[in-house]
Amino acid sequence: MCSENEICFNDFKNRIMNSDKNHLWGGRFNEPTEEFVKIFGASISFDKILALYDIEGSQAHATMLSEVGVLTSNELKQISEGLDQIKHEITNDQFEWSVDLEDVHMNIEARLTEICGDPGKKLHTGRSRNDQVATDIRLYLRDQVRNITTEIERLLNALLDLADQEKETIMPGFTHLQAAQPVSFGHHLLAYFEMFKRDHERLQDGYKRINTMPLGSGALAGTSYPINRERTAEILGFERICLNSIDAVSDRDFAIEFAANASLIMMHLSRFSEELIQWSSAQFDFISLPDSFCTGSSIMPQKKNPDVPELVRGKAGRVNGNLVALLTLMKGQPLAYNKDNQEDKEPLFDTVETLHACLHVFADMVPTIQSKKENMYQSALKGHTTATDLADYLVKKGMTFRDAHEIVGKAVSYAINENKDLSELSLKELKVFDSSIESDVFDAISLEGSLNARNHLGGTSPKQVSLAINAGRKSIK
Ligand code: ARG
Repeated sequence: MCSENEICFNDFKNRIMNSDKNHLWGGRFNEPTEEFVKIFGASISFDKILALYDIEGSQAHATMLSEVGVLTSNELKQISEGLDQIKHEITNDQFEWSVDLEDVHMNIEARLTEICGDPGKKLHTGRSRNDQVATDIRLYLRDQVRNITTEIERLLNALLDLADQEKETIMPGFTHLQAAQPVSFGHHLLAYFEMFKRDHERLQDGYKRINTMPLGSGALAGTSYPINRERTAEILGFERICLNSIDAVSDRDFAIEFAANASLIMMHLSRFSEELIQWSSAQFDFISLPDSFCTGSSIMPQKKNPDVPELVRGKAGRVNGNLVALLTLMKGQPLAYNKDNQEDKEPLFDTVETLHACLHVFADMVPTIQSKKENMYQSALKGHTTATDLADYLVKKGMTFRDAHEIVGKAVSYAINENKDLSELSLKELKVFDSSIESDVFDAISLEGSLNARNHLGGTSPKQVSLAINAGRKSIK
């Protein structure tokens, strides 16, 4: 027993050594962590997804440490074997994750020490969880961008194949959701090809910034060990190295950029979804989706609902939400690392999984889209969609565009009264509006004529659509 006012060193030591503290950082703590705080602060339930990347980073770090003489080759061997064993345990679902050990990094390190003793305790030399976690996320995202790229490429190819089948199919093109001018269905599909191609480009561009290595930045200020960052980067296949240790552990802009790119892709998928939903309704009846991509109603026996595009349209909302969450999480954080950053993982992982699934299902579904060509054609005959062509025809005969616009307006009004489409008026009827109109007018105002006339780069003539498909194929090779 210690007398009052006397510092009883042994008592104090016993208390702190035996308390239920975190063994990886508990040295300066006198009290154990409050039970709920442990759960509240733990990320293991979601960051264990990073486990294999964490091991990959640790292997590279240990190899580099042994090369610069901080670890002996025997220590490296024990660490490597231990990490291999842990990898085996994780992939075979034999690893016991513990909330007490907070996160994936400490779970793995603690197990390594259990397996190989002191060398395990040396692995964290010259490293902090701050540069470790930033590295893990980049390794993870790098892989995921590659997987997502494969899916976008499948979708791009599916769009080209479908556009090729549909280059001669005529449908109404819309502005304000009013029939505007006839277009080739293939051309319409190629509009999505262009969008997803820009998305593909953006992902590849962002990849450079993801593929940059923070390891070696320590907690924030670097490390006093003679590390060789170029070597670690080489082992991990990083193209570049973060050039400022404070920035490296703190910013998550590479992940936010990915989330922004993901939002753009989802926005494009959502627009495409919306059109597929409209087109497969009885009111449009332009396409049919196979039963395998639709579901029925539990009450209305006649229903066939386009669930897949509807879900994709809905999921665009959560991906946007994740982007806003990440931006808001980062905004206002002082340098360098703050625990706020632990909150980057769930929105990022959810974005990756959602985006991957949506692209995957679309790449599978696009080849199954069946166009209803006759319905599309008949629909293009409603709405006087070649009125601009008639005006252009009159301009070519010498009239000013404004006068031509006025005359065609009158012709449209006449056609409405006659319950016909402008393109269905006879030469005799048309001549009433201007005597310069000859029989060649039908090359201009028929749906086919209207399409064929738009024979320039980026135009909707079947010839140009065919050229665009060839160019598209080359561009994604
Ligand atoms: N689990 C943490 C995260 O996800 C790892 C880094 C912890 N660093 C720290 N200084 N507490 O961000």
